[in-house]
Parts: sequence; C-alpha cells; structure tokens
Amino acid sequence: MSEAVRTILQADGAAAKEPGREPDAGFLWDFWYPAVRSAEIRGNKLVTAMLLEMPLVLGRNAEGRAFAMRDSCPHRGIPLSYGHFDGQTVECSYHGWRFDACTARCVEIPSLTSQDKLKVERIFAGHYPCEERDGYVWVYMNSPGTRLPEKMPSAPALPVFSKGYKITHLDCELPSHVDQGIIGLMDPAHGPFVHQSWFWRSKHSIHEKQKQFEPIPYGFRMSPHSPSSNSAPYQLLKRITGEGVTTTIDFVLPNMRLEEIHIGKMWFSSRATVTPVRRDLCRIDFVAAWNLPFLPVFLFRMFGKTFLRQDQETMIKQAEGLRHDPKLMLIDDADRPAKWYFGLKANLLESRRTGTAMEHPMAGPVTLRWRS
Ligand code: FES
Ligand SMILES: [Fe+2]
Repeated sequence: MSEAVRTILQADGAAAKEPGREPDAGFLWDFWYPAVRSAEIRGNKLVTAMLLEMPLVLGRNAEGRAFAMRDSCPHRGIPLSYGHFDGQTVECSYHGWRFDACTARCVEIPSLTSQDKLKVERIFAGHYPCEERDGYVWVYMNSPGTRLPEKMPSAPALPVFSKGYKITHLDCELPSHVDQGIIGLMDPAHGPFVHQSWFWRSKHSIHEKQKQFEPIPYGFRMSPHSPSSNSAPYQLLKRITGEGVTTTIDFVLPNMRLEEIHIGKMWFSSRATVTPVRRDLCRIDFVAAWNLPFLPVFLFRMFGKTFLRQDQETMIKQAEGLRHDPKLMLIDDADRPAKWYFGLKANLLESRRTGTAMEHPMAGPVTLRWRS
C-alpha cells in the first residue's frame, strides 16, 4: 500500500471514530420514506437523494418503473449517479460495470476475458424497494445488512374520499434531527407564537383547550372533534357551509401526521412526513387533497408556504441553540404527544430487539389540557 493511500485510509478510520459522532443516528429503519417527487424522475435521468444518511440514485426504466439503488458502485464505490443509464441498465463511469436498474444485479464487467471465472450475476449493487404514491417515490429503507421482510407492507397512501379532488405538494428542509422535526410537527403550544398571522390566529386568542387522545397501532389519535375556535380558516368553513366540521389527527410511526376534516360531503385530507436526510437535516413533505369547491390550489399553497416557512425559521433558530447540546425538558400536558412519540419509538426498537410484541406507551384514551 502506498504511503498516500495508507494516509487516506487512516484519516477515514479516524473520522469514523470522531468523538460525539455516534454510529447509531437514531433513525427508524424498515419503513417507507418519500425520497423524491415522481415528476423528478423522467427519461433516462438519474436523480440522487439521501435518506437516513444513505446516498441513493433513482430513476425510471423504459417501462416506467421507478428504481432506487445505493449510490455507490460495489466495485470501488464511485457514485453510480455519475454513470450512464440507458433505460434498462446503469453503467458505472469508472470501469463500466453494468447493473440492471430494477434488480441491481450486475450484467457485465467489461474487463473480464473468456478465461475469467468470476460469476458476474452474483454481484449486486445495493438496492431498495420502490413504490410511487400520491406523487412521491417511496423507498423502503431496510436496515443495512438485513434482508427484506417476506411480507412487505405497501407504501402509505393519502386517504381521499371522492373521485374528483384537488391535490398539492409542499416541502421544506429543517436543519435538525428528525426527532426535533417530528415533535415540532405535533407541538400544540407553538401555534400562537410561531404561526401568528391575520389569517390564522393571534397571540391574544390563546385560550384553554382540552382534547381527547387515543392509542392506535404505532401511534396516537386526536379523537374526532370540532376544530379550535381561534383558527380563522375553520371558522370560515363553518360559516360558508353551515355544517359542523370534524377533524381527526393521527400520528403514526415512523414520521407521519395525518389530518382529516369532514364537513358534510366535503373533505380535506393532508399528510405531513418528516424524513431524516442526515442526523442534522430532515425534510417535511406535505401533501393535501380536498374537494372543497371554494378553495383554489394557489390560495392554499400561499397559506401553506407561509406556515412551513414560519416553522422552518423557528427550527433554524432552534438548531443554533441545540449546537451547544443544552439540557431540554418536556412538560405536561402540552408536550405529552412528544413524550408518546419518544415512548413509541423506544418501545418499537425494544420489541424489534427482543422479538416480542410492541408495548404501547398509552394505556387507553387520555384527555390533555393546554392553552394555545
Ligand atoms: S468502480 Fe464502478 S466499475 Fe469500477
Ligand atoms: Fe408549526
């Protein structure tokens, strides 16, 4: 080994053992995560994404099927995304090994001669199951070094309640660990401070609330209720339709907040997922669908973007504080959903470790009270 190569390898080894850089980044493997929007992969383009610190290369084969491979050639590690895709196989840019895009099986090693015995078809690049739903390419991130489960769940789908509806997507990156992104998403107490605006609510509209929660598999539900009286859009809905509005909000592991609003035959359904990109970066993907005739997509996007920007600006400021590793606290009742999230996550990991059934952190329905 040359001196230069030895130096590089040693430097890499040192980086891996860097103090404070835990090998376990607190991600939940073995779930579906949205990687890119479906519209981003077209033609023979290769697109890169990162999920759970795993670099991926995605594309769509000639039959229109999306695929996701680990963005690393199994020969010498160069990202496959630098290579060439012909609609069927991905060719590495370094020594031209070719891989079938959908199975990641190696189909050719150009340097082999007729004398070589190497079984090309036994070589695989890393690859991940891929499904498209609601305009996203979902990738099933099975934990490194494990086999895929025999029976795979299918990728999540946004619930919709009529044939015709409008749908729109928004996203934003947060410079935080996924846990902070998720507890930010379910936090009821920041609304009057972070989302102050004429169209939503003001700081002065704070009042006491109580909401009923119940356990559901892998998560919890804010039981169907009439929405907050200090949220202008809900009040407007009630006034326009003259009908009672009910909303149900679910949180489900690993990262999903689902909200359903029903007003007679009209409905609004949304899903926000917080996806870990790296341990210090996550992304909110928000999709909403509705059949409310009076809500144009552009108007909803305008409000939605404002909302996400307010959260994003707050998380950027929070990340500044978290850099110094301060002690944090969660209080009752406003932070109880955050406690349930951490409880669910810990119990899931424990059940996977021991192979026993997962315990739910909630014993039954609970009423929480807070002011917001
Ligand atoms: S590194 Fe990809 S073919 Fe050699
Ligand atoms: Fe928020």
